Amino acid sequence: MAEPARPGSVAEQRAAWTEQATAWDRWADRLERMAERFNQPLVEAAGPKPGDRVLDLASGIGEPGLTLHKAIQPGGRLVLSDLVPEMLQGAVRRFRDRGLEAGFVVQDAQRLALADCSFDVVTCRFGIMFFPEPRLALAEVHRVLVAGGRAAFLVWGPLADNPMFQVTRGAVEAVLGPDPRQRDPFRHAEPGALRGDFATAGFVSYVEKDLTFERHAKAGEPFWRAPLDMTSGGRVAALEPAARAALEAEVIRRLEPFRQGDAYRLSSRIRLLTARS
Ligand SMILES: C[S@@+](CC[C@H](N)C(=O)[O-])C[C@H]1O[C@@H](n2cnc3c(N)ncnc32)[C@H](O)[C@@H]1O
Repeated sequence: MAEPARPGSVAEQRAAWTEQATAWDRWADRLERMAERFNQPLVEAAGPKPGDRVLDLASGIGEPGLTLHKAIQPGGRLVLSDLVPEMLQGAVRRFRDRGLEAGFVVQDAQRLALADCSFDVVTCRFGIMFFPEPRLALAEVHRVLVAGGRAAFLVWGPLADNPMFQVTRGAVEAVLGPDPRQRDPFRHAEPGALRGDFATAGFVSYVEKDLTFERHAKAGEPFWRAPLDMTSGGRVAALEPAARAALEAEVIRRLEPFRQGDAYRLSSRIRLLTARS
């Protein structure tokens, strides 16, 4: 019988994200416009130009891949990579549906099977918090970048400033209990959490920038279904209808403090980390 994966290990992340891949692909196209809010500042900070070679890490179902692809035309080359083939499959499908080309590589970001100095830009959206040792990934990013290349990473700000996460996570934990396999997406929420790892990897001109977004979501509309499915993956999908209804009622109850009239006001806070190799 296979050994259970060590908590927080790459094997455990692989198992957890494999289970979530179907939900992420199911919502990917419907959430594309919303994803763009986060993609724009990330891609702008990374600054890819037409003709650049760009590597995106932990690409999942392809965010911010489509935005990057547009930025490097004509003549650019984009490689999307992820630990989990089932997640990357969503990106392959979305590029194929749009008739766009990119390279797709299944790999652990901490051990890149890519040549030294082979990219002008490396990006990573909401991925580094899942790598057991971010300093290994940053050393690899530095190695594959050309001298003076640009790295841009997006991480979540504090949980307290991301109410949608508080609501869905709180509801899932209240009904199903905590998921011991899930790494904390807010692991790098403290200012400066990755500054030392960037410096050790050899990066210079390191800058952090916090960004806050406001969202007004209509009460009575199930806008919370996507984050619920995507953060809890297989656990929610496996629920009997009555248990699912109880979970959904708990989400709506927990949204109440954020309600103003017929809409919920939900902010999100992210942190953009940029540096040069
Ligand atoms: C929150 S998703 C982000 C996906 C996409 N970048 C986005 O913003 O929609 C995190 C991704 O990190 C990937 N991941 C986790 N550990 C990884 C590792 N060690 N190396 C590469 N990717 C990893 C997961 O498979 C998953 O696709």
